[in-house]
Amino acid sequence: MVKVRVSLAPPPDASYDILIGRGLLGELPALLSRACAVARYAVIADSHVAELYGKKTVARLHDGKLHADLFTFPAGEWNKSRDTWTALTDRLLAAGVGRDAAIVALGGGVTGDVAGFVAATYLRGVPYVQLPTTLLAMIDSSIGGKTGVDLPAGKNLVGAFHQPRLVVADLDVLATLPAVHLAAGMAEALKHGVIADAAYFGFLEAEHRAALAKDGTVLDRVVARSVEIKAGVVARDEREAGLRAVLNFGHTVAHAIETVAKYEVPHGEAVAIGMAHEARLAERLGIAAAGTADRVRLALEHYHLPLDLPDTAPIDDLIAAMHRDKKARGGEVRFALPRRVGEMHADAGGGWTTPVPEQAVRGVLTGG
Ligand SMILES: NC(=O)c1ccc[n+]([C@@H]2O[C@H](COP(=O)([O-])OP(=O)(O)OC[C@H]3O[C@@H](n4cnc5c(N)ncnc54)[C@H](O)[C@@H]3O)[C@@H](O)[C@H]2O)c1
Ligand SMILES: [Zn+2]
Repeated sequence: MVKVRVSLAPPPDASYDILIGRGLLGELPALLSRACAVARYAVIADSHVAELYGKKTVARLHDGKLHADLFTFPAGEWNKSRDTWTALTDRLLAAGVGRDAAIVALGGGVTGDVAGFVAATYLRGVPYVQLPTTLLAMIDSSIGGKTGVDLPAGKNLVGAFHQPRLVVADLDVLATLPAVHLAAGMAEALKHGVIADAAYFGFLEAEHRAALAKDGTVLDRVVARSVEIKAGVVARDEREAGLRAVLNFGHTVAHAIETVAKYEVPHGEAVAIGMAHEARLAERLGIAAAGTADRVRLALEHYHLPLDLPDTAPIDDLIAAMHRDKKARGGEVRFALPRRVGEMHADAGGGWTTPVPEQAVRGVLTGG
C-alpha cells in the first residue's frame, strides 16, 4: 500500500491520507474506524457502481459491526445535478441520518462531487470519505475537496470546498471499468504530466499499450504519480487562490464543451479535446515551445482520445459558455497554458492564468 498525505494548513487541521493499493476495500471497516469514526455511514453510489460494489461494501461494513446504508442515484454526468442533491438529502433525512453520521462516496467523479456536496451541506456539513472507483476519480476528482453539481448554464457552478477525511483507491475495482472510462482517466494523467513532470509524460507516452491493457504495474505507477502531483498542488493552494489553477489546463475548453453538449461528452474526453486546442493556443500565443501541441496531440491519440470538437458544440455557443466559466474575469476568458511539457506558464505577477483575446480563441477552435 502507498500512502500520500495531503498536508493542509491549520486551523483547523484538515490534512488527510490517500491510500493506494489492492484489496483495500476489504479492509474498509478498520480504515473507516481509524480515520472517520462515526455512529453511522451513508454510502452513496450511482446505479452501476451500487450493483458492482455498493451492496458488497455495505455488507462488509455490517460484517465489521458498523451501521451503514446504501443510497443510490442514476448513473451519468447529467445526474450530477441539483435534483440529485435534493433527492439524496431528502432520503438521508427520511432515513434519520443525523450529525453523528458520515457520507461515503463510492464511485467515479460524478458520485464524488455530488456526494461530497451533500456532505458539505447536509445538516450544515458532515464528514465524508472518498472511495474512488474510476481511474479519473482515483487520480483527480477524489483529491482536493472540490464538490458540487453542474447546472444547465455551466459545469460545477454550485458547490463548496469540503475536504474528505480519507481517500481509499483500491485498484482492483479498475478490472470492471469500461475502456472508454479508462482512457478518460488517462486524459487527466497526461494533464498531470504536462503541468508538472515531463518524465512522467514520457512514461505515459511509452506505456500506452500496457496502460490501456490495464497492466497492473503501469496502472499502479500512474495512480501513485498522478496522486502525488495532484496532492502536491492542492496542498500548496487549497482554495485555488493561485497555483491550483494549473490543474485547469484543457478545462476552459472542456467545461464549455460539456455544457454546450449537455453533459453527453464524458469529462475526460472533453479534457482531451480541450488540451489539444489549448496547447495549440499556447503555441500560437508564443507561450509554449514549438512542438508542444503536436506532442500533446500524439499522446492523446495513443490513448484513442478524441481531439476534435463534437458536432453538438457550435463555436459561438462554446465562446458564450467560456464567458460564464468561473475563471472568466471582467469579461475576459482565461486559460492555464503550458510553456512546454512538464512546465506551466506563470506571468510576471505570479499569476497562473492568462487572458486571451476572443479572436485568438476563435482561431484555434475553427482549426484555422
Ligand atoms: N472535484 C474535482 O476536483 C474534479 C476533478 C476532475 C473531475 N471532476 C469531475 O468528475 C466527473 C467525471 O468523473 P468520472 O469520469 O469518474 O465519471 P463517472 O463518475 O460518471 O463514472 C463514469 C462511469 O463509470 C461507471 N463506473 C465507475 N466505476 C466503475 C467501475 N469500477 N467499474 C465499472 N463501471 C464503473 C460509472 O457508473 C459511470 O457510468 C466530472 O463531473 C468532473 O467534473 C471533478
Ligand atoms: Zn478534469
